[in-house]
Amino acid sequence: MTSTTHESRFDPSLQIGDLIVPRVGYGAMQLAGAGVIGLPQDPNNAIALLQHAVEQGVRFFDTANAYGPRTVNQLIGRALAPFGDDIIIGNKVGATRGPRGEWVTDSRPDTIRSQVEDALFDLRTERSSLTYLRLWGDSEGRAGSIAEDVPLEDSLGALVDMQREGKIDRIGISGANSELLARAQQVTKIAAVQNRYNLIDRSGVEVLAACERDSIAFVPYFPLATGGIAGLDALTAPARRLRVSEPTIALAWLLRRSAVIVPIPGTQRITHLDDNLHAAEIATDLTNAEVQALTDTEDESTAALTRMPTRMLDALRRPRST
Ligand SMILES: NC(=O)c1ccc[n+]([C@@H]2O[C@H](COP(=O)([O-])OP(=O)(O)OC[C@H]3O[C@@H](n4cnc5c(N)ncnc54)[C@H](OP(=O)(O)O)[C@@H]3O)[C@@H](O)[C@H]2O)c1
Repeated sequence: MTSTTHESRFDPSLQIGDLIVPRVGYGAMQLAGAGVIGLPQDPNNAIALLQHAVEQGVRFFDTANAYGPRTVNQLIGRALAPFGDDIIIGNKVGATRGPRGEWVTDSRPDTIRSQVEDALFDLRTERSSLTYLRLWGDSEGRAGSIAEDVPLEDSLGALVDMQREGKIDRIGISGANSELLARAQQVTKIAAVQNRYNLIDRSGVEVLAACERDSIAFVPYFPLATGGIAGLDALTAPARRLRVSEPTIALAWLLRRSAVIVPIPGTQRITHLDDNLHAAEIATDLTNAEVQALTDTEDESTAALTRMPTRMLDALRRPRST
């Protein structure tokens, strides 16, 4: 098993670009309808949840043009615009949805540009606080994507142009491997990287190390493994000892695992949102031994970005409650 040293000094916030945000964010993907298509059954519940999140101090949101498509951004715009200067809405571009809802990478510069414009319209804002380019480093490659041969530099170049035009504050990348991250850093300053990393799937560990080295925010998506952390033995004892839920412990572990981690747990329930935010309050109560035991539940030295562990695949196959 790998041995990792954990932060002895815990900071509940992180500087992203020139802004300091609390480290537990909110991932809005589940605010679309079933299969991440269309609107949810109760859009008013989604709006109330987003507003509650801001009231409770959430300042880092995650979304994408492909969620709905566009409906999630429209809900966020309805619920939260005009955004305070202290809020970051991280929006992903570079993917679209096919006729059967399938996820399709499309990183042609014209698509990137029009998706950013669509997002600004849907979010009811003139500037994107953070736009990620969705890459292909955490999947089997680019097969099946539109215009497979578009170089990363050209797609990212479209975002850099829009940043110069004052339409984007910060640029991030999602689904990057170390090589793609290094190439992106040659093009522009990367404020945040989004990859899979949670208790049962450490795929993003190598990129996490690169983010620590270069002080880039690392945003683990599926921080609760979409529910797949349930029943993990190492969560039971700390959850009992601290009288909190196992998801709270799973998020607190992420916060302790690295000072650059900003988790974006998703939920449709206000009670779960509050539970998740509680992670920042109890993170320092986890002992170093508990953090280490949680880290050691997987051997990170064998993790690979393109190989999703069976347990994570199983979690993704389970039907959601939408
Ligand atoms: N970059 C990418 O390619 C990419 C890919 C996928 C997702 N993402 C981002 O990652 C975000 C998070 O992903 P996700 O929402 O799919 O998965 P997740 O955050 O790992 O887990 C969400 C699941 O856990 C449940 N849950 C949340 N809090 C809970 C709590 N306190 N107690 C019990 N259950 C709880 C939710 O159900 P309830 O609704 O019942 O609470 C939901 O089923 C997305 O919203 C999206 O923004 C990015």
